[in-house]
Amino acid sequence: MTIPVLTIDGPSGAGKGTVSRLVAKKLGWHYLDSGSIYRSLAIALLQQSVDLNDEEEIVKVAQNIVLEFECADELIVKLNGENITAQLGLESTGTVASVVAALPEVRRVLLQKQKDFRQLPGLVADGRDMGTVVFPDAQNKVYLTASAVQRATRRYKQLKEKGIDANLSLITDEIEERDRRDMERETAPLVMASDALYIDSSDMSITAVIEEVLGLIH
Ligand code: C5P
Repeated sequence: MTIPVLTIDGPSGAGKGTVSRLVAKKLGWHYLDSGSIYRSLAIALLQQSVDLNDEEEIVKVAQNIVLEFECADELIVKLNGENITAQLGLESTGTVASVVAALPEVRRVLLQKQKDFRQLPGLVADGRDMGTVVFPDAQNKVYLTASAVQRATRRYKQLKEKGIDANLSLITDEIEERDRRDMERETAPLVMASDALYIDSSDMSITAVIEEVLGLIH
């Protein structure tokens, strides 16, 4: 039996995480936040002071990381037994994640970890290449985006709510830089799958986006 998968790809800050988590909850399906895998690797590399130009060492760390995920109200992630949830959302973590995510060997090593999430009764997977590379046979695919200004403003509010100091123009620059890196890399760049539903959430509420996504499944 083919296990159903719904993929939600798009640039950072488009609301993929919130939408995917709530859709997974509604459907009673598992949830894969693939960005958190690249972010966890970034944290491991920063913790171990690995030189980000040392590809061989980066791949070694990627091969050895042990990750545990708990999907409660928010996603809790443990890296080699340590709860790293608080560091996951930092912009600096996202930036290092996008640098190492461009390395083909890193992506190859982390591929199976992502595929393993495909379990009954189904999976909602969010990321950049869920519908194109990791689950190309997914029955339902969404490409969720929003304008860079909207995405930066959302990220800014999220950080502020968490009590993290943030600067809107810096976040906008970082988001644009990260988009560029994710879209222009040679391996698994962020592109819309040809069979994906395109949703621009710039002027939509989260509820409206969720309804549109659920409409695809039912
Ligand atoms: O989605 P999130 O912002 O958490 O992802 C952090 C970074 O990890 C992205 O900027 C991207 O470079 C990388 N990533 C990726 N492929 C995925 C998910 C995330 O390359 N499927």
